[in-house]
Amino acid sequence: MTASASPTPSNPLSPLSQDELKAQVGHAALAYVVKGEIVGVGTGSTVNKFIDALATIKDEIRGAVSSSVASTERLRALGIPVFDSNEVEELAVYIDGADEIDHRGFMVKGGGAALTREKIVAAQSRKFICIADASKLVETLGAFPLPVEVIPMAARRVMRQFAALGGIAQVREKDGLPLVTDNGQHIVDVTGLRIAEPLAFESEVSQWPGVVTVGVFAHQKADVCLLGTSAGVKTLKFD
Ligand code: 5RP
Repeated sequence: MTASASPTPSNPLSPLSQDELKAQVGHAALAYVVKGEIVGVGTGSTVNKFIDALATIKDEIRGAVSSSVASTERLRALGIPVFDSNEVEELAVYIDGADEIDHRGFMVKGGGAALTREKIVAAQSRKFICIADASKLVETLGAFPLPVEVIPMAARRVMRQFAALGGIAQVREKDGLPLVTDNGQHIVDVTGLRIAEPLAFESEVSQWPGVVTVGVFAHQKADVCLLGTSAGVKTLKFD
């Protein structure tokens, strides 16, 4: 990993809020958008800042492929055309946030329940640009509860499989009921895991019956991370 920092004109006595850090990296990501092309767009509060920034150059791009209903609605409300992923063979860049990112560019994602579509759009993109505030950078993945999208009838079995690995799994709820994803499935969140080998972990869990997508993004890792810090946007590049 290589790193460089570009200073931000800010008052060092009043550190930026998390929201300001997200806005900072959302804006910085514009530098990676290829003019005249379609851009892959992730999901979450950091990506919302990126979408707002993208609207300022909407006349310079063809549009976006979106990873969630929420991002699609925000893009369209700002006048940015949204294409179905099947209409586009390959995207130059995919820009998305993360719940955790390590020093190799491996991530945990899915805090916003959009992990399946995020992995699909990431897979059709040549470059993954992760935008995150500095709190997301970790030594080892696993502190943030790991989201796993599951077919509802497999939830209990998948939870038992995680228990056998030492994890504690629970079905994510919304308004007292299991949360239903954009794909009509449920999310299981797993705590107590230390994911030292993300590539092997992702490969194994992806094969469990009933698992739609595991929130470890190791095969679709980040190429670059724009990390928001009070000292400016730090650019981490991963091999
Ligand atoms: C959504 C995601 C998000 O990228 C992740 O949860 C980070 O979100 P935020 O930018 O709101 O912190 O994976 O499924």
